[in-house]
Amino acid sequence: MRRIEIFDTTLRDGEQSPGVALNADEKLQIAHQLSKLGVNVLEAGFPIASPGDFEGVRRIAQEVRNVSVAALARANAKDIERAWEAISGAESPRIHTFIATSPIHMLYKLQKSPDDVLEQAIQAVRLAKSKVSDIEFSAEDASRSDVDFLAKVFSGVIQAGATVLNIPDTVGYATPEEYAAFLQSIMERTVGIEKVKVSVHCHNDLGLAVANSLAAVGVGVHQLECTVNGIGERAGNAALEELVMALHTRKDQFNVETSIVTAEIARTSQLVSRLTGMMIQHNKAIVGKNAFAHESGIHQDGMLKERSTYEIMSPSVIGIDVESIVLGKHSGRHAVQQRLTDLGLNLEEGRFEELFSRFKLLADRKKEVTTSDLFSLADEQKEKTDLINLDYLQVSSGTHLVPTATVGLMFQGQRLADAACGDGPVDAAFKAIDKVLGTQGKLIHYSLQALDGGEDAQGEVTVSVKFGENLVAGRGVSTDIIEASVRGYLQAVNRAFSRGWIEILEK
Ligand code: KIV
Ligand code: ZN
Repeated sequence: MRRIEIFDTTLRDGEQSPGVALNADEKLQIAHQLSKLGVNVLEAGFPIASPGDFEGVRRIAQEVRNVSVAALARANAKDIERAWEAISGAESPRIHTFIATSPIHMLYKLQKSPDDVLEQAIQAVRLAKSKVSDIEFSAEDASRSDVDFLAKVFSGVIQAGATVLNIPDTVGYATPEEYAAFLQSIMERTVGIEKVKVSVHCHNDLGLAVANSLAAVGVGVHQLECTVNGIGERAGNAALEELVMALHTRKDQFNVETSIVTAEIARTSQLVSRLTGMMIQHNKAIVGKNAFAHESGIHQDGMLKERSTYEIMSPSVIGIDVESIVLGKHSGRHAVQQRLTDLGLNLEEGRFEELFSRFKLLADRKKEVTTSDLFSLADEQKEKTDLINLDYLQVSSGTHLVPTATVGLMFQGQRLADAACGDGPVDAAFKAIDKVLGTQGKLIHYSLQALDGGEDAQGEVTVSVKFGENLVAGRGVSTDIIEASVRGYLQAVNRAFSRGWIEILEK
């Protein structure tokens, strides 16, 4: 059976989602999980974009094995040098260089003639080839480009040494049949196409990213570019889990296979959601909370009689298992440690005892400590490496009271505290944090949901906060929803601080 390669760009295109700002540690954690998931190529970032991006890519290239590591570079010498500097330590490095080829992009954005664009593309690939053998060339906005011009550019870059040609639907404008026909025409006209791999990269502006990518499989492309949970610029990219499970479940239609370990899909999806702060919509295919839930009586009846009546794939295939051992207040160290290991949550030395005592406190407040709770407890341990941590929180509010919050924070070994009033207790707490730190966050989005089902579920808050021009997301979990809100806001503050977007005023 033909093998399709999966090129994951969660850490590059996905990281370009508004509000997402991962630090190097978080990127590394996701990269290790992507390698476990079995992606063939992992696009680690855009090294020229910022020193933080460079560092994230460099560390992934050094530390993550069993996967090709790609770095993005515009078609110019500075970007390519920087990309190479970042990935030269990788087991199997790839430089991914791009330039736009559509009339609209060449005229208005690049302000270059088609001949100049062709020349720049060839020079860029030549330079990249002098550094590494694996070169991917992308024609940005390919799907709105002239077929003959695009074939000329592709023929030129193949001669210059490109090994992968990517034909993106950058603005998510294509429709499946049209896109397949366009790809077919390009492949027929490009000289040397048989020597390279052909890739597609589809955006979801019309909700067609997955459909377009699957149409491309039908015309024989070799590589699909996608992101976990479909995150990415604007409406996002083709969702990895949807592509992989469509190919897996409908092998009869597509006749291809991937190297993805499907049992790692749910875990990867949850990790990406937690670290990016991008919630997964409940009805999202494959990984949404309701994707395997059956509500109506008729459906439940059918399921009880024969699962295949309403279930086209088993949740266990993507790694959702009903746990046989329930963790609660009577559970001991061994059971908790075993579950953490099963979940791939490997804590740093000495962190387990702290997690276990937090586990016991939580188990006193809730009947069952779920997998999501364990992920949150493990996250808390990682947050200990944050520079700004919550020390204490006190709020008062009520029908006839002015909502007031006092927040104590630990910053560089100092205990800092202040109080503020607000429209409600959450607003008061966020204002108190800003007062303590001398920051000015503008809350753009706030959402609260239960982490799992059940009346004693923990509250999960996600926020997007603007600091100056920069938007950053944060997530917090607690049995107390005000505390969850404060933790989410502090995560956003920590991310903005580590990126150099805010300064903390010395007291
Ligand atoms: O959408 C796009 O065209 C891209 C390229 C850089 C591949 O992300
Ligand atoms: Zn893109």
